[in-house]
Amino acid sequence: MGKPKVVLGVSGGIAAYKACELLRRLTESGHDVRVVPTASALRFVGAATWSALSGHPVSTEVWSDVHEVPHVRIGQQADLVVVAPATADMLAKAAHGLADDLLTNTLLTARCPVVFAPAMHTEMWEHPATQENVATLRRRGAVVIEPAVGRLTGADSGKGRLPEPGEIFEVCRRVLARGVTAPDLAGRHVVVSAGGTREPLDPVRFLGNRSSGKQGYALARTAAARGARVTLVAANTGLPDPAGVDVVPVGTAAQLREAVVEAAADADAVVMAAAVADFRPETYATGKIKKKEGADPDPVVLVRNPDVLAEISAGRPRPGQVVVGFAAETDDVLANGRAKLRRKGCDLLVVNEVGERKTFGSEQNEAVVLGADGSETSVPFGPKEALAETVWDLVAERLA
Ligand code: CTP
Repeated sequence: MGKPKVVLGVSGGIAAYKACELLRRLTESGHDVRVVPTASALRFVGAATWSALSGHPVSTEVWSDVHEVPHVRIGQQADLVVVAPATADMLAKAAHGLADDLLTNTLLTARCPVVFAPAMHTEMWEHPATQENVATLRRRGAVVIEPAVGRLTGADSGKGRLPEPGEIFEVCRRVLARGVTAPDLAGRHVVVSAGGTREPLDPVRFLGNRSSGKQGYALARTAAARGARVTLVAANTGLPDPAGVDVVPVGTAAQLREAVVEAAADADAVVMAAAVADFRPETYATGKIKKKEGADPDPVVLVRNPDVLAEISAGRPRPGQVVVGFAAETDDVLANGRAKLRRKGCDLLVVNEVGERKTFGSEQNEAVVLGADGSETSVPFGPKEALAETVWDLVAERLA
């Protein structure tokens, strides 16, 4: 089998320079990349750069090498088309099927998955014209990555930044691996919680846990690549924001609850991958707790935290919403898992056996996904993304 063929479309925005890094990542990981810039993209980064980095000739219009019918061939032969950056103008052309240069022709002839990574000023992104074009493209099956929030060209900042090239690369890799043109979570809103909550004792101390957040981030990334709008409620993870995902940072279980409940109001699925502290210290000392000479330390009195998973499962703010919980067990894994599934009232429970190499902080995981309908799906030891894909397969089945 030859290398997967990727078309990298580049439209005319200052973020075009970041596409060089995306191109490098794609070629270094074994993809055959054909760069198709627009004429305005070449005002930012020249044809020589694209040609040297991709190892292919570069042209912007349909009149070069006409005997090879490039305006049809490039799109037809592609396994993936990714447009980064996609300007407001490019999204509009793509949504309306205009074909006045090589890139827009390629978009019309491509029958493979298409990913757009928009970058523009906040006003342009939020304009109803752009939002309707994005909705049209998503409805037709394209993956449109939400822009990142941050510094824009000039002094202003807001939503509209091109996500980091490494993050766009991850979306491309996931979309290519699935190889389908109609993302099964398109038009869905999913909420994922990740990380571990911290319950403060005083200004410098907290009760916490060892959850890294990697499983929740893998869930968020894979859902975005399958076309979902993703809200990631992230408790103390320190991981980079996945591309196209709305990240809501939280600290404590109470903050996590508030963020999850708010986002769940219009969500099709809620996946609670976070390790939420079951207890918090009853009192918070506003000053640092000091040791007293010759005296025993004061005991720490704990009180129960709300159970977010049980609350969402019981409330189901949206009819047909699919709720997924996680459980880490050391013994009687399946029996404890079944009992927990019933107690929490969720549709699916991902049961991990906690061990030395597994689960906490590791890149790999192994689990059984139990369904309230009695189903049992084993996921062999492997990358956390594989487990995430299985979870979304099961969620998508239930949503359909
Ligand atoms: N969870 C939650 N709110 C809590 C505690 C846990 O939403 N206050 C969610 C977690 O995100 C996870 C699931 O519940 O999806 C499993 O939590 P776990 O702590 O294993 O369940 P417990 O009922 O606390 O069971 P155990 O007695 O084994 O700790």
